[in-house]
Amino acid sequence: MKASMPSTEKARRKGLFTRLGRLFINGLNSFLRNARLHEPNNKAFLQSLNALMVSIEPIFEEDSHASIEVNKDAIFVNEVRVRPDASCSASYRALIIDFNRRGVGGILIKEGCNKQNLIDTARIWRFNEPGEESLLDTLNEQIKEAGAEHFIAFTKPRFIADSEEESMGDPREFALHVYGQAVSYLRGLPRQIAMGKMASARRAKRLVQSFVDLSSRRDFNFTALAVIKNYDEYTYSHSVNVSVLCISFGQRLGLSRSELVDLGMAGLFHDVGKLSVPINILNKPGKFDSGEWQIMKNHSTKGFIKLISMPEFGPAHFKRAIVAFEHHCDYDLGGYPRKSNPRPLHLFSRICAIADTYDAMTSKRIYQPAFSPDQAIKILLEKSGKKYDPLLVRAFVSAMGVYPVGTVVVLDTGEVGIVLEANPYSLSMNRPKVKLVGKSPDDPLLGTVADLTEQDEKGRFKRTILHPADPAFFGIDVAKFLFSDIQTSNSGQGV
Ligand SMILES: [Fe+2]
Ligand SMILES: [Fe+2]
Repeated sequence: MKASMPSTEKARRKGLFTRLGRLFINGLNSFLRNARLHEPNNKAFLQSLNALMVSIEPIFEEDSHASIEVNKDAIFVNEVRVRPDASCSASYRALIIDFNRRGVGGILIKEGCNKQNLIDTARIWRFNEPGEESLLDTLNEQIKEAGAEHFIAFTKPRFIADSEEESMGDPREFALHVYGQAVSYLRGLPRQIAMGKMASARRAKRLVQSFVDLSSRRDFNFTALAVIKNYDEYTYSHSVNVSVLCISFGQRLGLSRSELVDLGMAGLFHDVGKLSVPINILNKPGKFDSGEWQIMKNHSTKGFIKLISMPEFGPAHFKRAIVAFEHHCDYDLGGYPRKSNPRPLHLFSRICAIADTYDAMTSKRIYQPAFSPDQAIKILLEKSGKKYDPLLVRAFVSAMGVYPVGTVVVLDTGEVGIVLEANPYSLSMNRPKVKLVGKSPDDPLLGTVADLTEQDEKGRFKRTILHPADPAFFGIDVAKFLFSDIQTSNSGQGV
């Protein structure tokens, strides 16, 4: 782990590896115990081998290695301290004793390790019983002789700092970091594909998991991330914004964490087919000719093909390919591509179509100025039932509010503010929290957050929205203003 990793990311890994680590600890202990007791063709041994493989598989979703290191009376899994609970306390203790007696700090298993590599390791472990000396060099020599040195290594005992007590940082800082990483991931995809490399979605999944974790934080309005726009790299920031909006909306719909990750992935990759569309077509200021329009429309099918060609693609990933294919089909199936077998669109496609349109409309493009968030909501409502699922549009409007986050509003006090957070109560939807722009650069109210439900001593509202306004009229960069107090090294954004 890098020292510069934001503390929220550390907290996420802490939770994840505590859960996965306990399974890994049980799996490894059972495997090594069976290796000592049984021959490699024994049923119990083979069962423990399978269980070990199953326990490390989800760790490879996160990192390219799975490690267990014993440090005095503690075990670290992928450098995260795992505390034992009732489910693993016996294995925990046994592993500490076993590793210490052999003078070995731990074991490192790399992605790509197969069953034969583990069977060889079991044999080597079995025939090297503890003695006076450390067995570390002997074990690793034998691993090399077995040809497994690229996948398995026993490691030296070392001191590992336990950093779990570190305080939680500003979630907005972490959110901007993850946003930047997601844009940079998408920016690198076309080059990888052009070089003939098989592009992996694993890194993307880790980023989307971080988004899902952030979306459940009470101290951070996750939807605000989608106000970040990048005019020069529209396709990338648009895809990240659609992922953010999908997750945020999906959470309001009550989807589970794993469904939110699937939905966020679907949002991130919905336009992956556009990454190979020539830039002169993508950024054409005027109308497309018929050939160009055909190329643009093909991005749905191309995206589907790209996604099912990714190396780790399996049945669990089918939803994201379906969304890439269906996100322009329209609720009434009048869009593109025309489906030969007209079946209702997948729920994720209907959600993504709304998030996609909302972000596209609120972004400035060569051929269109940006609509304000409240105008975008009006357009969604107008096309509800035709292009968009009417029930979902209603739910989206209720989640975003009549003045969605990022809307510039003029108040009855003469002040100008930017909506920071929607009011969750339907009767007070017109009273969100706003960040005040201030009447001059040295206005003490500049940057303060005003809750529009606040009343004075006579019960009158202190501030009320008169009307939304165009940020360009006031020269406001909405994303910059909302995140202006954050120092970030993150690159590639319009923040
Ligand atoms: Fe699209
Ligand atoms: Fe899109």
